[in-house]
Order: sequence, then C-alpha cells, then structure tokens
Amino acid sequence: MRKCHIMTLDAQPLQTIRWCGELDGYVELIDQTLLPVEFKMIECRDVECIWNAIKRLSVRGAPAIGVAAAMGVVLGVRNVDGDRAMFLAKLKEVSEYLASSRPTAVNLFWAIDRMNRVANETSTSDCAAIKERLLQEAKAIRDEDAAMCRAIGKFGSALIPDGAGILTHCNAGGLATAEFGTALAPIYVAHAEGRTVKVYADETRPLLQGSRLTAWELDRAGVDVTVLCDNMAASVMQQGLIDLVITGADRIAANGDVANKIGTYGLAVLANAHQIPFYVAAPSSTFDLDTPCGADIPIEMRSEDEVRHGFGLQTAPDNVKCHCPAFDVTPARLVTAMITERGIIKPVSQETIAKTLA
Ligand code: MRU
Repeated sequence: MRKCHIMTLDAQPLQTIRWCGELDGYVELIDQTLLPVEFKMIECRDVECIWNAIKRLSVRGAPAIGVAAAMGVVLGVRNVDGDRAMFLAKLKEVSEYLASSRPTAVNLFWAIDRMNRVANETSTSDCAAIKERLLQEAKAIRDEDAAMCRAIGKFGSALIPDGAGILTHCNAGGLATAEFGTALAPIYVAHAEGRTVKVYADETRPLLQGSRLTAWELDRAGVDVTVLCDNMAASVMQQGLIDLVITGADRIAANGDVANKIGTYGLAVLANAHQIPFYVAAPSSTFDLDTPCGADIPIEMRSEDEVRHGFGLQTAPDNVKCHCPAFDVTPARLVTAMITERGIIKPVSQETIAKTLA
C-alpha cells in the first residue's frame, strides 16, 4: 500500500481531504472543528466515519462535502461481496445514508449521483472492477475540484484591483474545497501576483468558520487579514474600507438565487446599499438547475445549542428559544457577478447561467 504523505503547516497548499493508498486504503481529512487551536487529521475507514465528519462539520464547505461523499461511497461498498444486483442495492443504501448527512450543499448530492451513474454504467458483473472504477471516480472528483478552484482563482483575480479591501463571509477557502478555495482563490492569485489586498473576514456566528478557518488559512498564506464580528460589516463599508465582497455558495438555483452561510444575504443587502460589488464564487458542481429558485432550496436547521452555548460558554439562558438556520438565500438581483471555472457570469440571470453551464 502506498504511504500517505502527512501534511505539514509549511507553505504547501492545504490538502483538506484525500484518499490514501489503494482500494483498501482510507480517507484522511483535516478535523476543522479543532482549528485554529489544533491541526489534526482524521482517518476514516468506514462510511459512518465520513457521515459523522460531514454532520459534525469536521469536513465542511460545499465542494469538500462533495469530495467526502464520493469517497464515503467507496468506503461503504468496498467490502460488499455478492453479485452485481446485490452490489448495486448496497450502493443505493450507502448513497441514501450519505445523502442524509446535510441537506443544503448540492455538491453532496451531485457527487453521490455521479458515483451512482458511474457504477450503473460500468457494465460488468465483476464487482471488484466496479469498486476500482468508483475509487478512480472519487479521486477524479477531488482532482477536478482542485482544478476548478484554480480556474476560479484565475478568472476572479481580474476583479481585484491593487490595494483592494475585500470582505468575505464564512470559509470558502482551501479548507472548504479539495484545494485553494472558491471565494478565497481569487485573493490567493492576486496575492501571488504581488497585488496588495486587505481581507476582512466576518467571524461568522454561530460556528465561527470565518475567524477560526478563513483567518487561519489566509494568515498561513501570508495574506493580510482582519477579523470582524458579523455586526461590524456595515460600519467598515460606511468607512470606505471595502471595495468588493466575495463569498462562496452551497447551492445556486437555476435563476441565480444563492444559498450560502447564514448572514450572506445581509451582506449582499449592505453591499447593495453602499454600491459595493457583491461576487459569488462557485464551481459548476454547486449550480442546481433542477431547483428553480432560492425558495426551493432546503435550508439546514442546526441545534439551538450552537447559539445557546457558543464557544463552549453559556451565551444565552438555557430556557430561551434560539434560532439556528445554517444558511440563507441571497436573491440573484443582489449578485453583481458569479465567478466560475468557466468564466464570469454577468449579469446574473437564468439565461446567462444556463449559457455558461451548457
Ligand atoms: O456550514 P458550512 O461551514 O459547511 O458552510 C460553508 C459555507 O457556507 C461556504 O461558504 C460554502 O460552502 C462555500 S465553500 C467553497
């Protein structure tokens, strides 16, 4: 079995999730719940481990969830003995199980569908061959995601002038993808090209993906980053410190409405009020043309305790109700442009999206 390279914190690109070894290998992923205090990998050798890692946000961010699900499918079927019908029945069961982990990021369902399509199209009764084919596909999903993020970086960096102040929300960086990120990719490219950028990272309550993860990975890459509490965005815009906003997306409906981390919609309204461009960066795997508009996107509701006991502290009385949607929907009309691996979509409309994705 090939030995897996263990990542160091030096200037290597973050390897958020990868398959180590051959079919009898394992999935290695960064436990993002521990950052920025501890950098630790989790080794998943069964599908339950992947399900839990997605559910508890050890691996999170739409593209990374998709990669995890694809690798989870392999873990879930690799020990199945029996004929093709039995194998495909188990594949269906494993797929439904993984699909129940989180509801909003469409990359999860996109990756599971892709794995199922590949298995069904592999017209052999040799289950060992189907398993090998599924492993190749899961690795391809990971590698393609890394390549899409790099292309997003290239296209998006053209929107970043030298000296720009950039506001971002949640974490749509290397940690949220196979490598490099979506919203952060253009920033990494601008930085690598020698442009000065000043990034403001919303802390992103309740789970602090902005201050824990975005600030950590930008700082590690040498990018100037300042953390803001979520309620400070309006004030920094008013002071003229923000030239553009870039966020990622968990699911983009056919009409361009965007589901992303709770608080994104508020930022888009603020950007509009201050006439600041609001960009959404996402790979084609995040577009869901079967969902007509944002109102049709299922929004994950998480435990009230994430609000009530923030950062391990009592942040609200035990007896009060707390509201904890993980995502909100930004209407397409508030999005200045979308940055995809296929280029920039501007203006954002059903037609321009369909044309770019065709
Ligand atoms: O709940 P999370 O941390 O999975 O939410 C992640 C986000 O909202 C990201 O902005 C989105 O998935 C884009 S990641 C490139």
